[in-house]
Amino acid sequence: MRVALIGTGRMGPILKQVLEERGHQVVAHVGRPSESFWAGLQAQAVVDFSHAAQTQAIVRASLERNLVLVTGTTGWQAQEESLRTWAKQLPHARWTWSSNFSRGILLFQLVLQTLQKQPHLLEGWDTALVEIHHHRKKDAPSGTALRLNATLPALRGITSLRVGEVVGEHRYLFSTLGEELEILHRAYDRAVFARGAVWALERLASLGSSFVGPWESLLITETAP
Ligand SMILES: NC(=O)c1ccc[n+]([C@@H]2O[C@H](COP(=O)([O-])OP(=O)(O)OC[C@H]3O[C@@H](n4cnc5c(N)ncnc54)[C@H](OP(=O)(O)O)[C@@H]3O)[C@@H](O)[C@H]2O)c1
Repeated sequence: MRVALIGTGRMGPILKQVLEERGHQVVAHVGRPSESFWAGLQAQAVVDFSHAAQTQAIVRASLERNLVLVTGTTGWQAQEESLRTWAKQLPHARWTWSSNFSRGILLFQLVLQTLQKQPHLLEGWDTALVEIHHHRKKDAPSGTALRLNATLPALRGITSLRVGEVVGEHRYLFSTLGEELEILHRAYDRAVFARGAVWALERLASLGSSFVGPWESLLITETAP
């Protein structure tokens, strides 16, 4: 596909490399798209890993042009409801987003969803969620920890640590008399997020119909019993 990439920070070059490895053509790569950027754009899709200040404008400009859109930018949750409602009114919108495009976190989420549907299995278990990230990360708890906790609330809540260069670690601990279970996810490098975003792009582009929603609803489909 011909892809316009928005975001030239830490993630930008990694996404460019993964897109090209997967055979896509990056026809434009900017940090802050201007009016002229959109006017002359010869792309089929947009991948945005930039800044929340421009998410709304990017969503509107992309979907109005029928471009397939993957949003990896974080921090725009306050606008999610209104943008989603607007996008759903468009007949051909194809847009997905996630604050964590790691495929391992997607599996993590799926396990917690399964447990959430079977609360009797957790009777007598104490639970806690721990997340660790590099010292530059400003928000705590991480958006991912909040999402995991929203799926299956940990009885002891979320503990956040900021240390060194940890790319991202999330642990869900289950403890009961005589045994423990731990679900641990570690991201070792940022390419994980780029690979997941490109995977989502390819899934989204292959859809015959419109789709507006977070990537877990794009990728996790309920199967018949
Ligand atoms: N979904 C995921 O899996 C995932 C994974 C990693 C990161 N992220 C998110 O992806 C985004 C980019 O991450 P990054 O690490 O590449 O960030 P970064 O290094 O800080 O780069 C930010 C990019 O956004 C642009 N930008 C546009 N408007 C901006 C503004 N008002 N303030 C600051 N920057 C602005 C910057 O352009 P200039 O160079 O012109 O400043 C730059 O290209 C962030 O929202 C991050 O949280 C998501």
